[in-house]
Amino acid sequence: MEELKGDNLLRDFFDNISNNYDDIVNKEGEYAVLEKAGRLFERHNYVTGNILDLGCGTGLLSEYLNGKFSYTGIDFSRGMLENASSKGYETLEGMIEDEIRNIPDKSYDFVVSFSAFYYVKDVVKMIKEMYRVARRAVIFDLCDLPSSYISGVQENVYNHASIELPQKEFTHVVEDFKMFAWISPTLNIPIDTRMFLISMLD
Ligand SMILES: C[S@@+](CC[C@H](N)C(=O)[O-])C[C@H]1O[C@@H](n2cnc3c(N)ncnc32)[C@H](O)[C@@H]1O
Repeated sequence: MEELKGDNLLRDFFDNISNNYDDIVNKEGEYAVLEKAGRLFERHNYVTGNILDLGCGTGLLSEYLNGKFSYTGIDFSRGMLENASSKGYETLEGMIEDEIRNIPDKSYDFVVSFSAFYYVKDVVKMIKEMYRVARRAVIFDLCDLPSSYISGVQENVYNHASIELPQKEFTHVVEDFKMFAWISPTLNIPIDTRMFLISMLD
């Protein structure tokens, strides 16, 4: 019940900022993750296909990718999804932990998630689900939240940045590096992240 209360608070928070989210995160130099995602797609010659975007927010990712992609986003904030829909996203409203279970095996070329997994408790389970659904690659980041951030926010957040991915299951981890991610707009704390790309083909 506690967790549900926390989720509702978080959903209301994102609903409230949904129409200003792009302006907030687009402030120069303060959100580096999606730009890096765009460069990763280019580096691996990913230029076409369908993308499942977990915790898609306003669908801002689509503005950083060059190529011919179609997008489906899962998010629990209706306000965020309305913005994503206006960028051409198909949308699924709900918890990513629940919704992804209904997605058939190997049904998307790319399954991605950016700046959302610090809200997810069991992240290894989530990555396994992404792996099940993806045909070409799974791409995501895990924020290295400092304790000052974890104790400074109301909602439950998790630092998954030091996880070890089971090598037997995830054989082709072709990118795994740390980078600056964003500056917390509320606490003004810089946050780093660990970016992963797991390939299905090579
Ligand atoms: C910081 S925003 C990132 C949005 C987008 N990925 C980006 O990079 O701009 C996090 C998003 O995840 C969503 N979210 C957080 N936890 C979620 C969950 N458990 N299920 C569904 N959506 C969630 C929020 O509503 C929000 O839109």
